[in-house]
Amino acid sequence: MTHGKKITIAGNWKSNKSEQDVLDWFKQTSFLVKESEIDFSQLEIVVFVPFLYLSIAKKIIGDFNLPFSIGAQSISPYPSGAYTGEITGEMITQYAKYVLIGHSERRKFFGETDDILQKKVEESLKNRLEPLYCIQNEETIIPKEVEFVAYEPIWAIGSGTADSPENADKVAEAIKRKWGVKRVLYGGSVTPQNVASFIDMPSLDGVLPGKISLDAQLFMELIQNASQA
Ligand code: PGA
Repeated sequence: MTHGKKITIAGNWKSNKSEQDVLDWFKQTSFLVKESEIDFSQLEIVVFVPFLYLSIAKKIIGDFNLPFSIGAQSISPYPSGAYTGEITGEMITQYAKYVLIGHSERRKFFGETDDILQKKVEESLKNRLEPLYCIQNEETIIPKEVEFVAYEPIWAIGSGTADSPENADKVAEAIKRKWGVKRVLYGGSVTPQNVASFIDMPSLDGVLPGKISLDAQLFMELIQNASQA
């Protein structure tokens, strides 16, 4: 790796996988990590798993000694208490390092507004969780406490058509300047084939693949290609 910057590859499983699928995925990934010659010292690999699997993900990563961090895909905007059905920062922090906030699917299907997202950022930080805040374009408002952002244009998510690395880099550069954000990932149809073109961009610090991260083989291929970019 020649960039001298730390690269983050963050897989977002979304609402997928049975417990058996999770066990198989980690078993396969662990085998591939051991087989590979990847230098993980300049890489941070994060897996955003459904809440239900945070605990087993932590246990397996520990048991297999995998160089992976864990992320949650959401967080309650409220602290622990009488909020039936919610998963709070206090719970998540036992297992995860990161929390995904503001994904366009949360905004679209669950009505999450800028106000709610602001509260989620505050709950994350109160519980020593680092928010990975998703923005859809340059105009998306970013809470001032946020240092880590993923730029994910809605039209590129799950469509098979990624944004151009040049445009993603332009957006990353602009939001770093405007909001003082420190790290920016690109997400939206990232594949093992196109990952290097994003990693090569000066203002991008990694990628957030969704669909590809569900498949252990493809996810490892993507990591391998990113490590050689
Ligand atoms: P995709 O999803 O890689 O399947 O396009 C990215 C995301 O929504 O985080």
